[in-house]
Amino acid sequence: MDNKELVGKSAAYLVDNNSILGIGTGSTAEIFIKELGKRVKEEGLQIKAVSTSVRSADLAKSFGIEVLPVDEVDHIDLCIDGVDEFTDDCQGIKGGGGAHLEEKIVATYSDRVVWMAEERKHVDYLGAFSLAVEVIKNGHAQLFKIFEDRGYKPSLRKVDSGEPFITDNGNYVIDLHMEKIDNPQALSEELIKMVGVVEHGLFIDIADDVLIADNDQVYFVSGAEYSRKSV
Ligand code: 5RP
Repeated sequence: MDNKELVGKSAAYLVDNNSILGIGTGSTAEIFIKELGKRVKEEGLQIKAVSTSVRSADLAKSFGIEVLPVDEVDHIDLCIDGVDEFTDDCQGIKGGGGAHLEEKIVATYSDRVVWMAEERKHVDYLGAFSLAVEVIKNGHAQLFKIFEDRGYKPSLRKVDSGEPFITDNGNYVIDLHMEKIDNPQALSEELIKMVGVVEHGLFIDIADDVLIADNDQVYFVSGAEYSRKSV
């Protein structure tokens, strides 16, 4: 079993019966949701979910999991999501799948947030992975120029046909290729203040822990052992 599969499947065993769960987006999240679906079928696990994307919601529903809008729950017990890059102190970059706005909303209203990652995503500094910035279509070219002037090396995210990628909320994504972000907190505050920026993929002080898979082992970034069921 490769690391992605191992961490995605293992994370499904962090979920308690009768809980309200935030479900992430991406290829690791898909593995997680499928294993969760297996638990629903085989163990009769009872959960309700709040999804971070249409794609993940559809997958969860296909396993009979009830998916509710974030505004229709009074709390979310646990949010489990993927991540593109993370540091020892659980700061991270997300948005490789362009779902970071919804991912940040669901994480914000969750009592506990756990990211699933392969050890290769564990970094000393954020920024080698491109930083997604979701922007309103109108004015996006002006923002693009500002990012260029600031040396942030922007590119407009496109789909295979060459058309711009459109988020679930109908916006564009500009990726910043910064290589190394010296002060993630300052950049986060700078970006969110810009008119037309809806949300960016810097997740500062949002995750409580990262579940990591490496060499057939699963552990938390804190070094704590994973003591649920081994898969
Ligand atoms: C989507 C995300 C994903 O969680 C992130 O891109 C990780 O994806 P994957 O599990 O496919 O590597 O932030 O917006």
